[in-house]
Parts: sequence; C-alpha cells; structure tokens
Amino acid sequence: HSIICARVFKHAVVERLAASSTVPIVNMLSDRAHPLQALADLLTMRQRLGVLAGRSVAWVGDYNNVARSLGEACVMLGMHVRYSAPQGYGPASEELARLDALGAGSVDYVERPEIAVKDVDAIHTDTWTSMGQESERQARLEAFKGFTVTSELMALAAPGVGFYHCMPAYRGVEVSAEVMDGPGSCAIAQGHNRLHASRGLLAHVVGVGS
Ligand code: NVA
Repeated sequence: HSIICARVFKHAVVERLAASSTVPIVNMLSDRAHPLQALADLLTMRQRLGVLAGRSVAWVGDYNNVARSLGEACVMLGMHVRYSAPQGYGPASEELARLDALGAGSVDYVERPEIAVKDVDAIHTDTWTSMGQESERQARLEAFKGFTVTSELMALAAPGVGFYHCMPAYRGVEVSAEVMDGPGSCAIAQGHNRLHASRGLLAHVVGVGS
C-alpha cells in the first residue's frame, strides 16, 4: 500500500494532489484544514470525558484551519460547539450553516469568550496568527485583546473543564501560562495523541484491521 501524506501551505495543493493521485492523499496540515489534529483532539476529549455526543466545546480565538476541522469533527460526533472571536475573525454565517449540517451536533458563534465558555466541557484555542498571516500579527494582537484563555475564563466553564491547544502555544498571548501549564491543561496529552490518532487513520486508509 502507498499513501501520500502532505503537509502543505496552500490547501489547493492537497486538492490538486487528490485530483491527480492514484493513491490516497492525507492532509497533514494546510492553511484551510488540519483533520489529523481534530482526530487527536477527539481522542483526547474522549479520554477525559467519555462519550462525546452531547458534550460542549468552546473555541476561543481565530477561526483558522484547526478551528474549522475541529468543528467539523465535533458536529459529526454530536457535540455542541460555540465559537468566540472578535467580529471579522469568526466563522461566516454560511460556514456555520455548513458545519451545522454535518451531523447531530451544532455550532454557534458568539463574540464574547465569557459567554462562549459558559458551562462547556472543553475550551480550545490556537495561535491568533497562523501560517501565512505573519504580516497581520500586530493588528491581530490588537483585535484579540481580551480573548486570552485565563483561569478566570476557565472558572466560568463546567467544573473540571479541560484546556486544549494544538501548539505551539504563546503563553501570555492566546493563553496564560497558568492555564497552559495548569492541572486542566490537556495539551501534552493532545500532542501525544497525534501519534496514535494518525496511526489509526493510516491503518484505516490502508485497510488494516478491517
Ligand atoms: N493554526 C496554526 C496551526 C499549527 C499546527 C497554523 O496554521 O499555523
């Protein structure tokens, strides 16, 4: 069996590969999607929460590649996702409708993080400046003021809420060091689960165990 695993910048490159390849293409990161990260995130939440259907997730930060894939995966599993971002940095309404239609779960957008995290079981974030957006860094730092995941924000969620970050994390920017390195942080388990989730996906694609 052969598979091409592509970690690229432009999502169009993965699409071109998929259109012309005779072997399966696995997207290992593009500027539009990060599906294997989402698989690892589901596995990590499953380990902490048990059955995921009916559970709730808040995404606090930019609606980027990681946010998009996570939302798709969560809705497919029947989870409820609330996105929180400054106006203009959240999902467009057509995008929300697309996600919402993917499964039994649901998605919503609220601007304020304090509202998004209320009683949720999991809080996810990522860097505010992703690949290819480096020139926007200053403007983004301004726009996202007040969106840092802090202990105060964690306290508004359900008791025992987990914090999730795909890393690299910028402490003091999108997350406080106290949260990133605190007892609620699942970031290291998430990183570890990238291995297991990816191996599971590859085994599935080549048909091992089926
Ligand atoms: N959103 C980040 C994810 C890195 C794994 C980026 O695209 O830079």
